[in-house]
Amino acid sequence: MRKPILAANWKMYKTAAEAKEFADQLLSYLQEGASLKQPIQEQVEILVCPPFTALSAFAAATQGTAVAVGGQNLYPRKEGAFTGEVSPLMLKAEGASYVIIGHSERRQILGEADELLNEKVKAALEYGLKPILCVGETLEQRRRGETADFCRGQLAAALAGLDQAVCDTLVVAYEPIWAIGTGESASPQDAQETIALLRQWLAEAYGPAAAAKVRIQYGGSVKPENVAGYLAMPDIDGALIGGAGLQASSFWKMLQAAADLGV
Ligand code: PGA
Repeated sequence: MRKPILAANWKMYKTAAEAKEFADQLLSYLQEGASLKQPIQEQVEILVCPPFTALSAFAAATQGTAVAVGGQNLYPRKEGAFTGEVSPLMLKAEGASYVIIGHSERRQILGEADELLNEKVKAALEYGLKPILCVGETLEQRRRGETADFCRGQLAAALAGLDQAVCDTLVVAYEPIWAIGTGESASPQDAQETIALLRQWLAEAYGPAAAAKVRIQYGGSVKPENVAGYLAMPDIDGALIGGAGLQASSFWKMLQAAADLGV
């Protein structure tokens, strides 16, 4: 049974002080929920990915709680002359246990290519960070019917050279680019269909048992009003949330929706 994971990707929002404020609010919600028969954190994994400059403050504020912390990117070296970059070792030292890799904003705006992303996944694993590997098609690719092939190609490229052990920690986020930050989301059925095909690819590459362990999230305009529809789908194991994860109250509503489903 895969435990769903709801992750807030803050992108380039929030200072350290604002991150601490969010943490305090989220923790007070969690405390209120602690008296429930089954506390929310037992049913859903909770992850927040702040920008690098707020990661340490957020991790300090949530240390020892059920809230996990992730980076939004890394550079695939332990250290070195890489101006402006952050290493997996540094993320780990600041309290991160996850790292987002290959978000479409990095692929498109910063030109990150498959080969580099493959190195990043390997570096995350080497330093004990769990990768959240993002894949997703453009609107043109969807219209041409290329969604499944394109996303499977992205998976294959990012996971090249890795054996089935990667399935023990890997999280995949299926994020159709046209649904990110646009308010236009893929329907739960469409997301399920693509995600099932991604799992099928994983099963072909690593065997069905390994593929069954991988959590695959949907991302793209997820909000409190629509999150339950995705989580009710058999292959969707959580969500990667941008805009709606910037307020603790709305993030909390989504966590509650997930727990209500008993997924
Ligand atoms: P959104 O972003 O929820 O604001 O659409 C999702 C993401 O980019 O991870």
